[in-house]
Amino acid sequence: MKNRSVKIGRNDPCPCGSRKKYKNCCRNSKKELSLKETYKKQYDIVLKSPKQIEGIRRAGSLLMQILDDVEQMIRPGLVTEEINTFVHEQTIRAGAIPAPLNYRGFPKSVCVSINDVICHGIPGNRVLQDGDIVNVDITPILDGYYADASKTFFVGTPGPNAKKIVSIAGNSLKLGMEAVAPGATLGDVGYAIQSYAEGQGCSVVREFVGHGVGIDFHEQPQVLHFGSPGKGVILVPGMVFTIEPMINLGKKELHVLADKWTAVTNDGSLSAQFEQTVLVTENGYESLTPYDL
Ligand code: MF3
Ligand code: CO
Ligand code: CO
Repeated sequence: MKNRSVKIGRNDPCPCGSRKKYKNCCRNSKKELSLKETYKKQYDIVLKSPKQIEGIRRAGSLLMQILDDVEQMIRPGLVTEEINTFVHEQTIRAGAIPAPLNYRGFPKSVCVSINDVICHGIPGNRVLQDGDIVNVDITPILDGYYADASKTFFVGTPGPNAKKIVSIAGNSLKLGMEAVAPGATLGDVGYAIQSYAEGQGCSVVREFVGHGVGIDFHEQPQVLHFGSPGKGVILVPGMVFTIEPMINLGKKELHVLADKWTAVTNDGSLSAQFEQTVLVTENGYESLTPYDL
């Protein structure tokens, strides 16, 4: 696939992050590097071709079908293993592969994270209770392409703390996505999330981050959910990454259980997360796993 080059002004900051002007940096190399080559070389970021984007979009639409169906199943009394069975079977039925299964030893096909579990909960014999919040995080591989998304659901009737943290986590993802545009930076995305969530008296988890995605599960760049405006990699069209802020009602500190996966808040407070796979476009962004927030 031929690279479509993106116009950067001679006096714009160089996308390689050197803080020099483009004309005094990468533009000046003897053999002028295309943006695609520059991002690969400087950051190990793969800018996606139109064909790759279409593949990720198809994986994303399968993912959203399965996630919508999971939402309909959620009720008190449901066993988390039943969510795993459903996600696994729907993924295979569509000719796809559940990326979590056996990923670095993860034993199941989906992450199911309840209440104070921040992420990477392992489905098993735990039963959903009225008033719980539960995040379901799904990653299918369809025709070799990965899409990654999650939502946090209410089980039965939510209490005030559950309503608050789920609302703030959803808004956090929304604000993070709205900061995505060519010329903006990853620091702008992190700042949008952190300033909002902390302004609401909540905390942002630091140990887990969003990530490039599409031809592998976890690619460059790392997408921090905290940061400073103007810092970090400059966003350019063709970048595909997740934004997946984990927001705690209490403090940000966490520990991982003896199963080596389940991450829980140290203070036992509720934690909620929403995740979408986002493409940087010429004008802004497009979600490849779209849902309303
Ligand atoms: N889906 C998670 C993410 O958003 C990663 C889960 S890794 C697993 O990056 F092994 F736990 F599945
Ligand atoms: Co992810
Ligand atoms: Co995920």
